[in-house]
Parts: sequence; C-alpha cells; structure tokens
Amino acid sequence: MKNLEERVKSVIRDVQDFPKPGILFKDITPILLYPDLLQDMITEMANQFEGIQIDAVAGIESRGYLFGVLLAQKLQVPFIMIRKEGKLPAKTIKESYDLEYGSATIEVHEDAIKTGSNVLIHDDLLATGGTAIAAANLIKQKANVAGFSFVIDLTFLEGSKKLKEIKPIVKSLITY
Ligand code: PRP
Ligand code: MG
Repeated sequence: MKNLEERVKSVIRDVQDFPKPGILFKDITPILLYPDLLQDMITEMANQFEGIQIDAVAGIESRGYLFGVLLAQKLQVPFIMIRKEGKLPAKTIKESYDLEYGSATIEVHEDAIKTGSNVLIHDDLLATGGTAIAAANLIKQKANVAGFSFVIDLTFLEGSKKLKEIKPIVKSLITY
C-alpha cells in the first residue's frame, strides 16, 4: 500500500513548458478524478491542524477553492472566498501585491471575516509565497492568521520561510 504522499504524486501530472517555455507545471486537476484519494487528502489536511484554533478557512481563487471548501467542511467551519479584484458583488476589503511584472489585487467580502477570528489560509500550491502573503495581509486587516495549508510546497523557492515570519504554522501535503 503506497502512502498518501506517493498516491498524490502518482496522479499529479507534469506539463513541460506551461504556461511558458522553461516552466514545468504541476497539474493537480487529475486528483479530482479520484474521489477516494481526494477524501483521504482532506482528512490528512484537517489532521495537520489538530489542536490549533481555526474559526474559518479562506481559500484563494481559483485552485484554492477546490480543496479549501472541502477542508472547511471537514473542520466544520465557514469557508471564505478570496477573489481576484472585481468579482465579488458586496462590500469588500482589498490587498494589492507585486507580481514579477506589475501588480495584482485580491479582495474578500468584508462581512465574511469575523473581527478577531482565527483564519486558516489555504491554497493548492505554495511557490514564491507572494499570493499567500497577500492573502495573510488581507485577513490581518480584520482577523488573525491561524496558519497556512497547501497541497503542494515547491520547497526550492523557499516560500514557507517567508510565511513562517507571519505565522510559523505552515503545512503541506506534499513537497517537491
Ligand atoms: C498559482 C497557485 C497559487 C499561486 C502560487 O495560482 O494556484 O495560487 O500561483 O504562486 P506564488 O506562491 O508564487 O504566489 P495562479 O495565479 O496560477 O491562479 P489559479 O489558481 O487561478 O490557477
Ligand atoms: Mg492559485
């Protein structure tokens, strides 16, 4: 019987030169074809935060929604959608951050975050950490960051080092 990390890695697909030449893309979409694997992943991701106070899970658009909402359901807490700018209809709070070229803004419905609550930030993949840091700064406008949850950590990019300065609880299911 393979362990969970091996099972997840065996279905993640490497796509060479996507989205641009020289990039080896880790495609997580095949995971969604295996409901038993998905269920085991969510159970393990929830277990990683045993004993830590989590009042809500915030998932980052778009791939952070796939596992994030299931994780929130498993933990029996609300799920908060962090979206790219201009998609949420009601009153929002925003956070801008720098990209390789230019900048980006993410936002969240103001009334989705309870003041002073402990919010776990979830995304499918940790690369440089830029997206997760922006999400943490957004959450911190109203609440506390309980920790960070990822399916994949590309450890050679050292994103988790930066996240640990915000909150040392940084967990991933698999690493490359
Ligand atoms: C990818 C990934 C993370 C982010 C990680 O999202 O899903 O959200 O990049 O990169 P970072 O750690 O260097 O910030 P992407 O922007 O490709 O959008 P998507 O989730 O909507 O596909
Ligand atoms: Mg993403």
